[in-house]
Amino acid sequence: MKFFIDTADLAQIKEANELGILDGVTTNPSLMAKVGIKSEAGVLKHYETICEMVDGDVSAEVISTSFNEIIEEGKKLAAIHPNIVVKVPMIRDGVKALKWFSDNGIKTNCTLIFSAGQAILAAKAGANYVSPFIGRIDDSAWDGVQLIAQIAHIYQLQGFKTEILAASIRSALHIVKCAEAGADVCTCPLESILGLLKHPLTDIGLAKFMDDAKKMKEQMVPVK
Ligand code: E4P
Repeated sequence: MKFFIDTADLAQIKEANELGILDGVTTNPSLMAKVGIKSEAGVLKHYETICEMVDGDVSAEVISTSFNEIIEEGKKLAAIHPNIVVKVPMIRDGVKALKWFSDNGIKTNCTLIFSAGQAILAAKAGANYVSPFIGRIDDSAWDGVQLIAQIAHIYQLQGFKTEILAASIRSALHIVKCAEAGADVCTCPLESILGLLKHPLTDIGLAKFMDDAKKMKEQMVPVK
């Protein structure tokens, strides 16, 4: 399973990248707004900076909702860097645009996926990734991980090549459950990735090893 970080914050991207486990980045308009980007040129520059930092796919979301505008915006985004993946919403014109991008060699991520039917449509249109929003599904008392498992089952049966990118991750447990359910990628906030590190027995075990190593050193006879 690939690990993407779900942020537009450069410091967090750098920190995740330094762990050596990062395969890509996803952003959305809310995440871009959060880092205070104020112009279209600023958006393009920010994506370029991210692409220079990380060796992997970088999802850049269109903010247009009509076919022609999605195509024009997507072409501009794709021209920034070969690693840009154009993120397109699951709407009627979005599906048409996914097909156009697929026919024209531009990689896509279909976002705002909340049902298996939407995931089938995106795969049929040639999306490289689909992004089921598992946290938002759980927030409504439905089962986001179950949707990942259902899409994985359908894609395997039908031979779809579209990768399942589990999005809207809220915890380290979500990552584990998505891996179990067959997600190809998890895009996560930094704290969920770092949450995977945590186990109290690791801390207790390390403290004991360090203590015993210290005692051993104290007893060592210096070599002459
Ligand atoms: C990523 O591609 C999605 O836009 C993102 O994971 C949504 O996460 P949220 O539900 O926490 O906003």
